[in-house]
Amino acid sequence: MMRKIYLLLTLALFVAKQGMSQEWLVPDDQKNIKNPSGYTLENVKAGKNLYLVNCKSCHGDPGKHNGLPLVPPPPDLISDLMQNNTDGELFYKISHGRGGMPQFEKTISVDDRWRLINFIRNFNKANRPLLVEAPPKKAKLLASVNEVEKRVEVFAEVEDKNGAYIKLPDTEVKISAKKAFGNIPIGDILTNADGRGEYVIPETLIGDENGLVNIVVELGEGFITDKVVLDAAKVGQPKPTPKLIRKQVLWSTNDNVQTWLLLSYLGAVGAAWLAIGYVIFQIFKIWKLGKE
Ligand code: HEC
Repeated sequence: MMRKIYLLLTLALFVAKQGMSQEWLVPDDQKNIKNPSGYTLENVKAGKNLYLVNCKSCHGDPGKHNGLPLVPPPPDLISDLMQNNTDGELFYKISHGRGGMPQFEKTISVDDRWRLINFIRNFNKANRPLLVEAPPKKAKLLASVNEVEKRVEVFAEVEDKNGAYIKLPDTEVKISAKKAFGNIPIGDILTNADGRGEYVIPETLIGDENGLVNIVVELGEGFITDKVVLDAAKVGQPKPTPKLIRKQVLWSTNDNVQTWLLLSYLGAVGAAWLAIGYVIFQIFKIWKLGKE
């Protein structure tokens, strides 16, 4: 009897597993729908942005096969499994989802789902790719801070075909302030025709108690370079120190203490004394009983 149940269970599991990895069937009338939005650079770009936000976390970077290790795995965009779908099949699968693949019917508009499919088709062998990602270029970044004029001065160079470094014009440079919990962007500039740029530090930038700021300078995307950290630049406003942080404030004066803090402190002390009093009272009772 037990053996039979075991056999049945194994069989059921096997069938269920087969069912999971089974071909993903799409109703015939949906299969042959054509993508109504054109295969244009604009649509492919829009699709890429949607992909980065909604899909990349699972499907990974196109062509790198670095998707999440789910079962069944989310296929890479360039894979045959993905590209052998018709437009209609892609639309159906993205809309309805299955297993680990979420449904996007409610969260991504019809037009945007078709734009996503344009992006997927950018990686189809039969298509001319519209978006070609240029490999990142090697670059050098120099930065210094002018504390008197409160400016960050930047100079960027990029490696040319012959391995020589030439000035890097019209490129985004990001300036941020390094804090204990990460970098806070404070501004962006573009380099000029000479590869130089200047960032004027806003009056409102707050530093530490002495007005010191650690400034981080980085090149925008598409370049391989080290960021420059300008430590302890005296360019910010001194940070006001609230009196509460001053040492021993709770004991020296009650002026700054907040009511809730004072009340909970007094409450805790009171409760402790009550507990001690109760214990003494109990001991006294025992002592009295002993004497009777
Ligand atoms: C939470 C992870 C996750 C996210 C996010 C996700 N997918 Fe998927 N996707 C999967 C998994 C897992 C599968 C395989 C599902 C299966 O075969 O049962 C899959 C399968 C697919 C398929 C079907 C491939 C085939 O077998 O024909 C398409 C198309 C697809 N995803 C597109 C997208 C798009 C477009 C987005 C973003 C809008 C997206 N996915 C977001 C996990 C995800």
